[in-house]
Amino acid sequence: MKSISFVTQKGGSGKSTLCVSLAVAAQEAGHTVCILEMDRQATITEWVQSRTKETPEVAQVSADRLDTVMARLKHSEYDYVFIDTPGVDNPGTTGAIRVSDLCLVPCRPTPADLRAFKPTLAAIHRLEKAYAFVLNQTPPRSYRVRETAEGLSVLGVLSDVNIVMRNDHQDAIGMGQGVTEFNPDGPAADEIRRLWAWIENKMKVIPNVKAA
Ligand SMILES: Nc1ncnc2c1ncn2[C@@H]1O[C@H](COP(=O)(O)OP(=O)(O)OP(=O)(O)O)[C@@H](O)[C@H]1O
Ligand SMILES: [Mg+2]
Repeated sequence: MKSISFVTQKGGSGKSTLCVSLAVAAQEAGHTVCILEMDRQATITEWVQSRTKETPEVAQVSADRLDTVMARLKHSEYDYVFIDTPGVDNPGTTGAIRVSDLCLVPCRPTPADLRAFKPTLAAIHRLEKAYAFVLNQTPPRSYRVRETAEGLSVLGVLSDVNIVMRNDHQDAIGMGQGVTEFNPDGPAADEIRRLWAWIENKMKVIPNVKAA
């Protein structure tokens, strides 16, 4: 079992959106996935309530129960556990980083997002965790995206797939779907599939991560 957390204390950067669509994409690639939701906002619990399929399983987990739940999941049939965290700096986020094999840090190409992930990044470094930035909600192409991408790749690993701002993401969430289910042939689905392939590859080279 491998664990991936979605972290950054900037609200609205796309943690929950990427978490559900990547979970669905990972399932479509043949993996078993469950999602732990640590955010009381409950975006993903609401998503699963609108969902007609039974997987991925979603459970709300408080910070004080995370270690117990993760210990139990270690011996479960899941290939991946995805952990969605709130958009505020709290002990839960640090806990999620601690139990993760990979931390994904979604970031919009805005100065506010670039500033906001710094405390998260400091915790990731302190806990010596593998991480990657994902540029999300980008315009299809712009100087700002290129400049942000260059800045992020100096700070650490940046996924080579940018997730463009597209209505499919918002509409899919509302329907309880991932974008690859909502509009399988659309560009948003294509980006999410390519991002999942990139993440899956990255997981293979993280030290101490055993094969699923
Ligand atoms: N690539 C995208 N294209 C279009 N809309 C997006 C995209 N990513 C996220 N959104 C929208 O942006 C909003 C915020 O996204 P989301 O809820 O995933 O952020 P979050 O980081 O989980 O926020 P919070 O910290 O409050 O939990 C949502 O309305 C979502 O539909
Ligand atoms: Mg969220």
